[in-house]
Amino acid sequence: MSAVSDAGQENPFYYPVSSIKMVGGRGLYLYDEDGKEYLDCISGTFNVILGHNHPEVVEAAKRQIDQLVFSSSNFNSLPVDALASALVAISPPNLTRAHLRSPGGSTANEGAIRIAQHITGKRDVITLFRSHLGQTLAMTSLSGFSTHRTPFPNIFPGGVQVPPPYCARCFYGQAADSCGKLCVARIDEFIKYSSTGSVACVLVEPILGVGGNIIPPQGYFEELKAFCEERGIILIFDECQTGFGRCGHMFAADYFGVSPHIMTLAKGMSGIGLPIGGILTEDRLTGLDKLFHGFTNGGWLPSAAAALTTIEILQRPGFLENVRRVGKQLLAGLDRLGNRFPFVGEARGVGLMVGLEIIGSDNRPDNPTALALQKALLEQGAIVRISEHGRGNVMEIRPALISTEQDVAEIVQRFERACDAVYARH
Ligand SMILES: Cc1ncc(COP(=O)(O)O)c(C=O)c1O
Repeated sequence: MSAVSDAGQENPFYYPVSSIKMVGGRGLYLYDEDGKEYLDCISGTFNVILGHNHPEVVEAAKRQIDQLVFSSSNFNSLPVDALASALVAISPPNLTRAHLRSPGGSTANEGAIRIAQHITGKRDVITLFRSHLGQTLAMTSLSGFSTHRTPFPNIFPGGVQVPPPYCARCFYGQAADSCGKLCVARIDEFIKYSSTGSVACVLVEPILGVGGNIIPPQGYFEELKAFCEERGIILIFDECQTGFGRCGHMFAADYFGVSPHIMTLAKGMSGIGLPIGGILTEDRLTGLDKLFHGFTNGGWLPSAAAALTTIEILQRPGFLENVRRVGKQLLAGLDRLGNRFPFVGEARGVGLMVGLEIIGSDNRPDNPTALALQKALLEQGAIVRISEHGRGNVMEIRPALISTEQDVAEIVQRFERACDAVYARH
């Protein structure tokens, strides 16, 4: 007798699950058990960056599985060894060391914090309002959303959240061209009044993903890095969403022209959704003993083999250029919807990391209409997400980086049809 019927329950899940059961995938498309096709506009959870079941990457992982599935990190292995070198080669020149013992983004961020704390001998971590840095208890404690902290009475101390560079909705009520970058300058006051005074690092997503596709203005990261260096604080970029070509450059650090002292990686790293995370650091930041940060599935060999092939594909001539080109096309197509539909606000993005604000009167965030649009899109066979884990007002659109002009035209068309449906019911 199954555990399900033993328990006398029809639904064995702890949490609610969708009635749609996915059974296959190819490129930008997913297929359910009835054979219905879905256009995946968010690449899984922004991690299947080369499209579902990319044949070359699947083959690389299968080859590794045939050869050796697992070796503990007490030993060197071919794919992890090669991956460390490849990561150092493609990242900004100051990042010369790869730490590959994390199975995902939350754990990579925790490792980066440990490194910063170990090196500086300090403790606090500064993050931005609207940050989403993972779901472990430590990362939840550092979240930029109170909703993520509220249910847990014993969150970790030492996190200080500061206003983000969200120019369209500036915390300080300033205009972007004359603001004096208060979102950097005022951090001193948060350190003085909200922290213990002992700050190890600033941990930021270069583009706030879950927070609403928020793109900092030119000059922000130059100022933030200078601020950190003047105070002996380590600057960490969480590139879990932005890395590996998402922004039309290998990393968002390349797009912004500012390299952090530490970079964390996950999500798109294996190209096809196999779990893997990583931390890249400067030479001077080595020294955290191996025993302090390592997980059973950190540097899992098939994931490392997949990551190597993914990096090779991203480096092919024209690949990132295509991301930039179709990204602009996507942005322009979504932007045009604003002329027809009053609830469509700002479209913003870099490469194929795109967000579309859904607004009510006075440009106010409109979550119910965003939810209605998401539902209408699903009726059109298109899968999207909404910022703040469904509580925000920004449609998240991050299709696979292999998207063609036709794919992007199809996405925009489905958005238009869904907007029509929402408008008719509005
Ligand atoms: C920016 C960012 N960092 C970290 C994470 C956590 O990654 P993981 O789920 O692999 O722990 C996420 C996941 O959504 C993310 O978006």
